[in-house]
Amino acid sequence: MDDLTIRNIEPTDYQPVISVLNDWWGGRNMSDMLPKLFFVHFRETSFAAESEGKIVGFLIGFLSQTFPDQAYIHFAGVHPDYRRKGLAGNLYRHFFEISRNHGCRVVHCVTSPVNKAAIAFHLRMGFSIEQGDKLIEGISVAENYDGYGSDRVLFIKLLGT
Ligand SMILES: CC(C)(COP(=O)(O)OP(=O)(O)OC[C@H]1O[C@@H](n2cnc3c(N)ncnc32)[C@H](O)[C@@H]1OP(=O)(O)O)[C@@H](O)C(=O)NCCC(=O)NCCS
Repeated sequence: MDDLTIRNIEPTDYQPVISVLNDWWGGRNMSDMLPKLFFVHFRETSFAAESEGKIVGFLIGFLSQTFPDQAYIHFAGVHPDYRRKGLAGNLYRHFFEISRNHGCRVVHCVTSPVNKAAIAFHLRMGFSIEQGDKLIEGISVAENYDGYGSDRVLFIKLLGT
């Protein structure tokens, strides 16, 4: 991955990303949760990682309008062949830096309780799990957080200075 580059996302990245999204998430239907608007209106805080001219990872995030000291990572994914090489970590650190430069002190994100890899990844990245309503396999989970039956694990990370 010597040629890996990280750049801001572009509207033209929507099609290549959305076409692989469900595969990268192990066949789960995720594409409805990532509409094109993120590739248009959140470019400053969303990134594509490219290797040999193709997108091998991406992160979609934004700065909270309501809480100026908070940022949110909505989606991040890495091509299965490029995992466990530090790529998502690089994308997250890039997002932390941009967020910090905008005065943010806190980053939030959520994941599904079934996504054990994402839970392990976020804990390794220094996130803590926020208190939910119930425990699933020892993990605190917010019940029906994203609609009926859509429980979520809520993550929070404080950005150092
Ligand atoms: C979760 C995901 C983004 C991680 O990407 P990645 O590029 O493999 O992650 P990294 O290599 O940067 O890993 C960073 C740290 O997390 C750890 N980690 C990553 N995946 C892990 C896993 N499946 N189990 C345990 N630890 C894991 C790494 O070991 C590393 O820790 P280290 O620095 O101590 O070695 C990737 O597996 C993925 O795209 N999954 C499908 C999409 C998804 O679930 N996204 C979740 C966010 S919405």
